[in-house]
Amino acid sequence: MRLLNHLLLFTAVLAAQAERFVRFTSTDGREYFGDAILPPGTTDASKSKAARVIEGDILGNFTVTKQVMPIRKLLSPLPNERVRTVRCVGFNYAAHDGEAGQPIPGWPILFFKPFTALNTPSDPIPISEGYQTQGNFTSTMDYETELVVIIKKKAFNITDDEALDHVLGYSVGHDVSHRGWQIDRGGEPTPQFSMGKGPDGWAPWGPAIVSTSVIPDPQTLNIWTKVNGVVKQNDTTANMIFGVKHLVSFFSMGTTLYPGDVIFTGTPAGVNLGKADPIWLVDGDVVEVGLENVGTCTNELVYVQDAR
Ligand SMILES: *[C@@H]1O[C@H](CO)[C@@H](O)[C@H](O)[C@H]1NC(C)=O
Ligand SMILES: *[C@@H]1O[C@H](CO)[C@@H](O)[C@H](O)[C@H]1NC(C)=O
Ligand SMILES: *[C@@H]1O[C@H](CO)[C@@H](O)[C@H](O)[C@H]1NC(C)=O
Ligand SMILES: *[C@@H]1O[C@H](CO)[C@@H](O)[C@H](O)[C@H]1NC(C)=O
Repeated sequence: MRLLNHLLLFTAVLAAQAERFVRFTSTDGREYFGDAILPPGTTDASKSKAARVIEGDILGNFTVTKQVMPIRKLLSPLPNERVRTVRCVGFNYAAHDGEAGQPIPGWPILFFKPFTALNTPSDPIPISEGYQTQGNFTSTMDYETELVVIIKKKAFNITDDEALDHVLGYSVGHDVSHRGWQIDRGGEPTPQFSMGKGPDGWAPWGPAIVSTSVIPDPQTLNIWTKVNGVVKQNDTTANMIFGVKHLVSFFSMGTTLYPGDVIFTGTPAGVNLGKADPIWLVDGDVVEVGLENVGTCTNELVYVQDAR
């Protein structure tokens, strides 16, 4: 009996491990969760062509089955409605604070995006009319690559040491930003963030949630942005002022973090904000954000006419 228990436990532990959680549509037109199978020579999950199907709930109990399905299109790793809150951190890399003319914060700077901002790792980022150039109000669209933390277990008032136990894994995200609405219109003397960063589709993330078993230390990863193929940001998460452990623990102060909540952890230097000669993003620009051992999200900015 004891042997049987051990065997059962062993099976449960084995089956509950996945390395790269993805959500995708397959060739049969259906949607699946899976553990991405990487092609040889890359750790970029966006290049995966197939995945082992996951049954159950990746935020609860699940099993990785032996069934392999082809990936037609990767979706964001969780459906938008499974993500109760999208927390974002401002000014969390010293060199970025410097370029933006901001002091080094004493505590993490928190703002929220609505879950409607979440987007897939490949779909267009819609720029609605209010964010396009209007007269002398220039469309100051900017890119920000960020490491994203995905919560797997409820967390309330936890310590730094307990934090990673509540984390499912990591993705890369794009905190799409309009500096005019973030700062010039209503954000002076300090940024107000939400109007400048909250529109629908302005938070692409993915291409996978890479498990903490693959990335035991999130503060060692190369992180970058390319615009139309040209490198604009290239740094390491070692330069975060407040690391993942402290952000998770700090945000759990008096506030419950839920399974599926995501935290965008701030962007390194290299954005347009603060530059003497900014090259703001415009219609048709393609932005790739990347994180080592996780992969890339590649999305095109597309001007849209507002439906009325
Ligand atoms: C997972 O399954 C076990 C056993 O059935 C159950 O006790 C536990 O509450 C489940 N966990 C979640 C997060 O659903
Ligand atoms: C921009 O245009 C508005 C009216 O469209 C005008 O009131 C304002 O003074 C202009 N600002 C600058 C800096 O030219
Ligand atoms: C929060 O955590 C601190 C220390 O970690 C502890 O002293 C305090 O009692 C906790 N509060 C609640 C409401 O759990
Ligand atoms: C970023 O810099 C590192 C170290 O110099 C380099 O190895 C890497 O290729 C660069 N990344 C990109 C996207 O250019």
